[in-house]
Amino acid sequence: MPHPLFRKKSIDTIINDAEQGMSDGEGHSTALKRVLTVRDLTFFGIAAILGAGSFSSLGGAIFHGGPGVVILFIITAIACAFTAMCYSEFASRIPVAGSAYTYSYASFGELFAWMIGWALIMEYSIGNIYVAYSWSDYFTSLLGKMHIHVPAYLSTSYMEAKHAVERGTSNKELLEAWNQAPVVAGLRMILDVPALIINVLITYLVFVGVKESRNFSNLMVVLKLAVVVLIIIVGGYLVFSHGLTANWTPPGKAGGRSFMPNGFGAVMMAVSGVFFAYIGFDAVSVLAEESKNPQRDLPRGMILSLVLCTIIYILLTLVLTGAVDYRSFDGVGDPLAFIFEPEHLNVGWMQFFVAITAVIAMTSVLLVFQMGQPRIWMSMSRDGLLPGIFQRIHPRHKTPSFSTIVTGLVVGIPILFTDKTFVLDFTSIATLFAFVLVCGGVLLIPRKEKVAGRFQLPYINGRFIFPPIVVLAILLAWLLNPAYFSDILHFDYTGVAEYVQGKQSFWDLALPQLSLILFWTFAIVLAFLSFIKKYSLIPLMGIITCSYLLTGMSKNNWVWFIGWLGLGLVVYFAYGYRNSKLNREKVVE
Ligand code: ALA
Repeated sequence: MPHPLFRKKSIDTIINDAEQGMSDGEGHSTALKRVLTVRDLTFFGIAAILGAGSFSSLGGAIFHGGPGVVILFIITAIACAFTAMCYSEFASRIPVAGSAYTYSYASFGELFAWMIGWALIMEYSIGNIYVAYSWSDYFTSLLGKMHIHVPAYLSTSYMEAKHAVERGTSNKELLEAWNQAPVVAGLRMILDVPALIINVLITYLVFVGVKESRNFSNLMVVLKLAVVVLIIIVGGYLVFSHGLTANWTPPGKAGGRSFMPNGFGAVMMAVSGVFFAYIGFDAVSVLAEESKNPQRDLPRGMILSLVLCTIIYILLTLVLTGAVDYRSFDGVGDPLAFIFEPEHLNVGWMQFFVAITAVIAMTSVLLVFQMGQPRIWMSMSRDGLLPGIFQRIHPRHKTPSFSTIVTGLVVGIPILFTDKTFVLDFTSIATLFAFVLVCGGVLLIPRKEKVAGRFQLPYINGRFIFPPIVVLAILLAWLLNPAYFSDILHFDYTGVAEYVQGKQSFWDLALPQLSLILFWTFAIVLAFLSFIKKYSLIPLMGIITCSYLLTGMSKNNWVWFIGWLGLGLVVYFAYGYRNSKLNREKVVE
């Protein structure tokens, strides 16, 4: 008998619960409409993936890592591909809404499931705050191009302006927001009105139903794909015709020209932004209860959208870093429009086109995540971990009405007092954490016979493959940089003076090394376990690649994330632990 904290739901129970279309206690059916096809699911994937990551955070990533960010895009794509296969395995076995939350309920038990559900709030709701801010940036610049001026203090977040002024920024817009804002009771009235408005509109759209949202979303995806391809063709052509290819190997810090001018460490610093660009393929899995043939179509939708977006990101990064020297991307929030500005490629109509598309692209991202969050809460509510009202389905629209409104509030309220960097980091770390657990979960569920027409993760015995991969990775790291391991193991005392003077905290100093020591130790332990337990190779690769990406996270990310998980534990023990359906069933028995 497992401890109640690790009580599990069997896969059969999860499916039965969902199929029964449980009542919310007020006579309303909780069954969702099954309308989505593989094309819709792929479009949903692209709708969720291609957005603020490429249109906005790509600029900062390039500024840190230079053209070499392409390598990070490839590593991240590999990590996401392994994870997508694990999501697909679960989605095929447990075709109900709830995504990683539901999967970990079946594999790790209740406590982990709750923590994953809690972490997914970061991915779905907090991630949408970043997208809403970016949407607002592009929207106001689009209005600007049409000579409609929105005052900076009405289109900037308070925290962003405050932090920028404290840093002594020279960014004109942020200074304007701070200096021109009316002051009421000593407080500067700075708020991002367009971000708030788009959140209200999206919440309304999701509230009125998946079919309406689906048509709208498909149209937006076609438009954004067309324009991104246009950027690649026009930008790529100009890079070659203007002879700009030398930008791909700018002067390096260590002398000479290099694809990674600031070294691989700097490329890894861009991990939050790059990973954020990929978030979304997993959102497809929350639509299990609305798709016609989830077992076959969810995996296809996820993997297809991921492959397409990876190709797009690699080409986009090459075009951007070819068109303009990577050092010019400092503080650039609209990198795709930026390269077409007069001082760069100088194509006026492209700037306008890109701004319109960015607004469209980000609208579709907002839509998909805003649809996903209520469905996860609905599953948690069905299990008794959240109050019953979270699974209430609107009788006419057939959408989770209460959860949708709460999602709107969870996205909308923090728009008033957070900023972009904070929400970007927070979202990426929590999502990576969920990915590691989903891959780990696949290792724990029993293997199964193949069923025709359903996706099945191929079992490749990792026993003689995974340990050599770890050894090869160690050798490769050492061959590429003979000082790699000695640098990790030897503490850098040059930073200690700053630590003593209070300019650096202990964690700022030690975390990058510590996280790499932990990572390599974990890799070696996993290699041993895979040898002993004959673990399946694909989830092993998912775990190890996602864990590697976690080593790029900063101290602040960890502090906030651990705090968030701590709060989650408090909520669980205050409500879910007692009200869990599994707990109540046990009491009845
Ligand atoms: N991947 C999504 C975006 O870039 C979250 O907006």
